[in-house]
Amino acid sequence: MEPVVAVVVAAGSGVRLGGRTPKALRFVGGRPLVSASVAALAAGGADAAVVVLAEGLQDDFQQVLADATVPVRFVVGGATRQESVANGLAAIAADPELAGCRLVLVHDAARALVPPEVTARVIAAVRAGARGCVPVTAVVDTIREVDEGGSHVVDRSRLRAVQTPQGFDREVLVEAHARLRVTGEHVTDDAAAVEALGWPIVLVEGSREAFKITEPFDLAVAEALAGGR
Ligand code: C5P
Repeated sequence: MEPVVAVVVAAGSGVRLGGRTPKALRFVGGRPLVSASVAALAAGGADAAVVVLAEGLQDDFQQVLADATVPVRFVVGGATRQESVANGLAAIAADPELAGCRLVLVHDAARALVPPEVTARVIAAVRAGARGCVPVTAVVDTIREVDEGGSHVVDRSRLRAVQTPQGFDREVLVEAHARLRVTGEHVTDDAAAVEALGWPIVLVEGSREAFKITEPFDLAVAEALAGGR
């Protein structure tokens, strides 16, 4: 079986969550968010992880991931999520033990409670030939699009919220990021970059539990969920 390497981006400042501790090191269910994320991905089929962290935090991250069940490498992130992912991909290419991998996942450390079956579905879709795959959920709220003239309701039955881990053929994702560097474009997720190369994106079922822990409310929900598992 092809090995799977997960790029876990955790270099964000986490200002919306507040507090002094960097978000990825905040505890949920008795362990730091980044440890929970790596464990969740490993449980879903990732064989190794490259954790992308903020400058100066390498010692802390190394410590909290010392007991990870898969090999973990560390690399410093960039000013944007996109740059952080690119740094993670470069770290894979530079590592003799990871450079042979053809299937990569890109995951927000902030989605620490992603159930293993979501990761497994993404991996299976890429193994089945998808160049890019994203887990999605239905949109439960009624959505209004606003513009200068006012606002109007959008047909939510046609909308999906996109989560991570997203799965890719590594060569295609590397090419997609190389293209972004040339064009200077910014994307909010990696699937958009791959799609811009002309590859269709396969959708698989995500989970409400894979929500992004962003604000204090989310951390409280995550804590309650983790306690119930
Ligand atoms: O800011 P946002 O919620 O979109 O961040 C999503 C993920 O990307 C988080 O896990 C965050 O740590 C990561 N990120 C990063 N490098 C940045 C900005 C965000 O690794 N420069």
